[in-house]
Amino acid sequence: MKSISDLGDLQGKKVLIRCDLNVPLKDGVVTDDLRIKSSVPTLTQLRDAGAAVIVLAHLGRPKGQVKPEFSLAPAAKLLGAELGTEVKLADDVVGESARALAAALQPGELMMCENVRFEPAEESKDEAERTELAQKYAALGADVFISDGFGVVHRKQASVYDVAKLLPNAAGLLVEKEVQVLKQLTTETKSPYVVVLGGAKVSDKLKVIDNLLQKADTLVIGGGMLFTFLKAQGLEVGKSLLEADQVDACRGYLAEAEKLGKQIVLPTDIIVAPEFAADATPTVVAADQIPADQMGMDIGPDTAKAFAEIVAGAHTVFWNGPMGVFEMAAFAGGTKAVAEALTKVQGLSVVGGGDSASAVRSMGFTDADFGHISTGGGASLEYLEGKELPGLAVLEGK
Ligand code: 3PG
Repeated sequence: MKSISDLGDLQGKKVLIRCDLNVPLKDGVVTDDLRIKSSVPTLTQLRDAGAAVIVLAHLGRPKGQVKPEFSLAPAAKLLGAELGTEVKLADDVVGESARALAAALQPGELMMCENVRFEPAEESKDEAERTELAQKYAALGADVFISDGFGVVHRKQASVYDVAKLLPNAAGLLVEKEVQVLKQLTTETKSPYVVVLGGAKVSDKLKVIDNLLQKADTLVIGGGMLFTFLKAQGLEVGKSLLEADQVDACRGYLAEAEKLGKQIVLPTDIIVAPEFAADATPTVVAADQIPADQMGMDIGPDTAKAFAEIVAGAHTVFWNGPMGVFEMAAFAGGTKAVAEALTKVQGLSVVGGGDSASAVRSMGFTDADFGHISTGGGASLEYLEGKELPGLAVLEGK
């Protein structure tokens, strides 16, 4: 994988760069700017080097249709504010508007094409269709391609994968940093190595549990997925989230952990409520006493304390997925306790992207409180599953 410096002098060159600016929006306003801020270092370096920079990015899943609510306009505006310069946004992806802006782009200037997912070929399964679109990206006048959208490197898409095959390419600073940290989590970990997994679904995390059970010392399980584990232990979970078809898999992991001499730590108490609502009455119950008419909304206070102790005493921690319904104040305590414990880790602490990243940021923690907050949700999980990610493989010439 080449670095930007391997591409030589970029003064006066046109650089096509894939960023991941897929940010959450509320009423047209960006509510979490992690991905925007994380894109700034590479873009600044390119501008300072005198390159004319053409940014490719996606927002949401418009599925090949031009839908104004998926416009990159809010992201372009905020990125411009972060960089202290205008980021001109084309009206289209590779049409007349994008071509005209690219042709007029001067060294040190930036432009952005509209949401690449407005083009049906971007996500096509047909390689020829994707290649045709990738050729149009390259034909914007690009001399080189830089891959810096870490959050999307697990996708085999035209602006991530195919375009890299057409141009001299390199990884941007963000992709380099993310890969370096995730590599550390799979190769050079210092014990105790604790993995904290939460979030709604066990099925999303099966492969990562599989792979990390071999590498970590302790797996701590919270979030909606914990109830499928409790069920696998023969406990009743009331109205809590349950993936009945994954109970056997969870039972298998509990047995496997015992065989390997590893620990899978489950909650001993749970905060339950009669319904999924912010004002529902919370009650703390023992994990083996969940009433039939209640649902688990967060890990209980004793569990939060125990999880926090395990995390704070570790030398390597990876955390992905909230411990409870953190968006509702009454059920945010478990997630907060784990986040706080992570800030105390003497060693490497990594917050996997997606919900856990926005949870910690919405709770007022800053990026500096942790070793690393990954911008990749699916991408970081797939990396830790040990999968080959197309957007990284292509940079290795594969
Ligand atoms: C993400 O939000 O995880 C990335 O931007 C990838 O988005 P996608 O899951 O829609 O491909």
